[in-house]
Amino acid sequence: MNSLTSGGSQDARRFPEGFVWGVGTSSYQIEGAVDEDGRGRSIWDTFARTPGKVNRGDTGDIACDSYHRLDDDIALLEGLGVGAYRFSVSWPRVLPGGSGPVNQAGLDYYRRLVDALVQHGIKPVATVYHWDLPQALEDRGGWASRDTALAMGELAGALAEALGDQVAMWITINEPLQTVQQGYLNGTHAPGRRDPALAAAAIHHIMLAHGYATAALRAGASGAIVGPTMDTQPFNALDEDATAVALALDAEYNRVYLDPVLRGSYPADLRADLMPPDELIQDGDMALISAPIDFLGLNYYRPHYLRSGDWADLRLGEHPVAGWPGAVHYMPPDLPRTVMGWAVVPEGLRDVLIRLDRESGGLPIYITENGCAADDYITPEGTVDDHERIAYIHGHLEAVLEALAAGVNVAGYFHWSLMDNFEWAEGYRRRFGLHYVEFGSGRRLAKRSAAFYREVAITNTLVPEPALAAPGRALADSGQRGGDAELPEAPAAV
Ligand code: FCB
Repeated sequence: MNSLTSGGSQDARRFPEGFVWGVGTSSYQIEGAVDEDGRGRSIWDTFARTPGKVNRGDTGDIACDSYHRLDDDIALLEGLGVGAYRFSVSWPRVLPGGSGPVNQAGLDYYRRLVDALVQHGIKPVATVYHWDLPQALEDRGGWASRDTALAMGELAGALAEALGDQVAMWITINEPLQTVQQGYLNGTHAPGRRDPALAAAAIHHIMLAHGYATAALRAGASGAIVGPTMDTQPFNALDEDATAVALALDAEYNRVYLDPVLRGSYPADLRADLMPPDELIQDGDMALISAPIDFLGLNYYRPHYLRSGDWADLRLGEHPVAGWPGAVHYMPPDLPRTVMGWAVVPEGLRDVLIRLDRESGGLPIYITENGCAADDYITPEGTVDDHERIAYIHGHLEAVLEALAAGVNVAGYFHWSLMDNFEWAEGYRRRFGLHYVEFGSGRRLAKRSAAFYREVAITNTLVPEPALAAPGRALADSGQRGGDAELPEAPAAV
């Protein structure tokens, strides 16, 4: 059933004036060119080369080759009609040693990107840190060391100086949860550590890095809006006994990152072994971390379900909750899921938006990521018929409309991702793009979802899902661009 027949009027399908439509990527996932123009090594170069860490031993050495295909990427963005593009800066490209001398050639790449975007009427949205920490910093302790937070302030200062005249929106950190949980607790992401003491230190230092970066961006890029991106995840308890665990996991996954920014403290009920020790928290740290932000970024993919149970009692598809004996992750069998195994629950997005609105006192919220992996393939006719992705987008945009109707200040939506890319430990087998990438040749091809998303973006309306058998159609370019009004104009060059 499409959205119009499901009862909404055309007006109810419209997003507010100035709503920002965009797509996202990140440096290590798309750029390639890991040895070019003075780029230093990143922890992902090291991790991906460590046997057994990434599916099939894939690396980001070439990825989508975006470093050399800037014009191609701009053409894809143009084709989508989006008003904004979220990319991230490769720290080791700009500061090869992590701190210290700036690599001008690295900065020049981002300058070219930003200029090309502005020229095409697309607002650049830059993430300062999206997981590719310089190996040089890792060698000195990584996120377990306070110096890494200071170095990120340095990076943000250099970026503000070089790009601040054109970048309208800055995201300081992307999903600190994943850096801590996967990088320092489970070891499933770079740098592959499994040590709660290091994770506890990393929590404080990555939040401090957000604080230093915010201060540097305020000083060097006035006029731009600045905020962090969180991947706040709903935990639903399916029975009484799992309720306490759901609350504890909410502290460990969500509040430990939200509270320092929004309240200037870590949650008192945080798992003791993950609580940043007092001796790491210096005077002024919490004030720096909780300095005012202009928006909250939210990456939403899925909720979690918990039920009481234990190792001895695991059923198919369940797994124990790390650190919480007595509870298991449960996947209700009636829920659709993506090839990642992630439950598809759009209402979870609505509920998280409502929660963040309440907790932040009504800050603007940008959905900085939302999307799904699917087993996409090119048909003999040369199309990629990703109706599953279209349905995913449609459902989640319904949820955004519901949050808006409930009074939440949702200011924009960035689909993840512009194109298929290096999906971290999953390598290239998980395709999240609106464009199909033929790894090897680097050729890009618009999937059917790209035409659907374009229609949404340029009409600023949740249009009905195309019927399954309908051929994909590209709208004639109307010259319209999806929602760029609300981002501040690029500050004038100094
Ligand atoms: C998020 C990451 C992003 C991408 C998506 C699928 O956690 O921020 O880089 O990998 O998941």
